[in-house]
Amino acid sequence: MRISDKPVAARLAALGVELRPGVSLSELTSLAIGGTTDQLLIRNYDTLPEVIRELQNEGIPHKFLGGGTNVLVADGELPWIVLHLPSVSPGVRIEGKFAFVDAAADLGGTVTYCAKRDLGGMEGLIGVPGSIGGALRMNAGAYGTQIGSYVREVELYRAAGGRNIILRGDDIRFDYRHTSFAPEDIMLRVKLELPAKPYADVVAGIRVCNEKRRASQPLNQKSAGCIFKNPPGASAGRMIDELGLKGLRVGDAMVSDRHANFFVNVGHATCDEMLRLVDDIRGRVKKAFGFDLENEVIFWKN
Ligand code: EPU
Repeated sequence: MRISDKPVAARLAALGVELRPGVSLSELTSLAIGGTTDQLLIRNYDTLPEVIRELQNEGIPHKFLGGGTNVLVADGELPWIVLHLPSVSPGVRIEGKFAFVDAAADLGGTVTYCAKRDLGGMEGLIGVPGSIGGALRMNAGAYGTQIGSYVREVELYRAAGGRNIILRGDDIRFDYRHTSFAPEDIMLRVKLELPAKPYADVVAGIRVCNEKRRASQPLNQKSAGCIFKNPPGASAGRMIDELGLKGLRVGDAMVSDRHANFFVNVGHATCDEMLRLVDDIRGRVKKAFGFDLENEVIFWKN
């Protein structure tokens, strides 16, 4: 969808929003799949309610794209624009045991920044790609750690009401790869409370997690991490592996030969190829093990 020729473009520019016309989402997502649309870069979080009001008044559909590491986007010309909070470095401010982090900050960078200030707890999250905002929304977790445990406050744009609000950590539910945020909420800032831990100890923990991850996950390939959530008490990756499906391909979409719950783009995979592979594997797991695998990756249709 193109809005550069519409009067709203000038009003958005006056709000300090940068319009990038015709960006390819294949370049903004870790799967390197996705069509083309206009993108709005919003640097001043306080303008978000007004920006979204403008879009609603003009009937312009929009989606919010964070780090792009857990999303599968349709191909072709997309019928909605994307909003994005540009990344900030470090985007973290420490006060005692609290870290105040911008949603656009890199998750791994935040873990390291806090480590250097002798704050730990999030070592397991070090290799999880993406932004703090994305990690919050899905309660990212790995190696026994999940970000939700450390959240004390979240500032977000709440679509219902159309304004920025602050929620207390106790008022948010953090479950396995799921939270009580509304789908249209946009994460803006978070206050984390982290346990004091000497830098050397945090680094030692980070090393262990990095080694485990390197040994089991296809880190240098284009993926969205695990494609399915694990059903209670079972591992999607193990089941797909037991069925001998590593390396199975639909076009350039392939079940990783390293970790079977990672589906990788080995060339120029299309969204359709990836979806066909996902459906095929889901069907086979259902038939063999009786589990209905739920997507962890979010699918954006056109
Ligand atoms: N396994 C296989 N074959 C495979 C993959 C796994 O036999 O191809 C076996 C492993 O040997 C192990 C078991 O399955 O015995 C579990 O594997 P792993 O430790 O890799 O954990 P997982 O359940 O597959 C989860 C998360 C990962 C997270 C790791 C480490 C989900 C869907 N996945 O994977 O998170 O990094 O644990 O904590 O919850 C993600 O969410 O995108 C993600 C990568």
